[in-house]
Amino acid sequence: MLTPEMEKALNEQVKWELYSAYLYLSMASYFEDKGLSGFAHWMKAQTAEEVMHAMKFYRFIFERDGRVVLEEIPAPPSDWESPLHVFEYAYKHEQEVTARINKLMTLAKQREDYATENFLQWFVEEQVEEEASFKAILNKLQLIQGNPQALFYLDNELAQRPIDLNLLMTQM
Ligand code: FEO
Repeated sequence: MLTPEMEKALNEQVKWELYSAYLYLSMASYFEDKGLSGFAHWMKAQTAEEVMHAMKFYRFIFERDGRVVLEEIPAPPSDWESPLHVFEYAYKHEQEVTARINKLMTLAKQREDYATENFLQWFVEEQVEEEASFKAILNKLQLIQGNPQALFYLDNELAQRPIDLNLLMTQM
């Protein structure tokens, strides 16, 4: 069973995972508006992944006899100067998510909540992947600055990202 303190902390993370989904959907809309459908597709795939993350927390909270209480989600930004700025923003956001996961892990360890610690280990590894995938695209955008042809080539590449709805369904 979760302690009220841990239950509250995990609920907070449900909100931030859903905020991440909201943020990336806002970024998808930005790219859609700019005619960069591959970037928009990539962000929609990321939105689905963030909902899956939120649902993983949701499921765990109930498995531990807790209760999910949804909180207000802040509005994300809707405009950026360029695709490069979008990915700079997103990369920074993922670093903040990592910091939140680390704080949860510290709390679980301090309270000797081994089940939560074990559950969070998946997110510790996931955040390594999350940061790396945003950084890889950010690096490319830094290299191709001022080259529209290269930007369209990258747009095509990002359109290939699969949207794994099965993964999402496993958490429902
Ligand atoms: Fe759920 Fe992208 O961290």
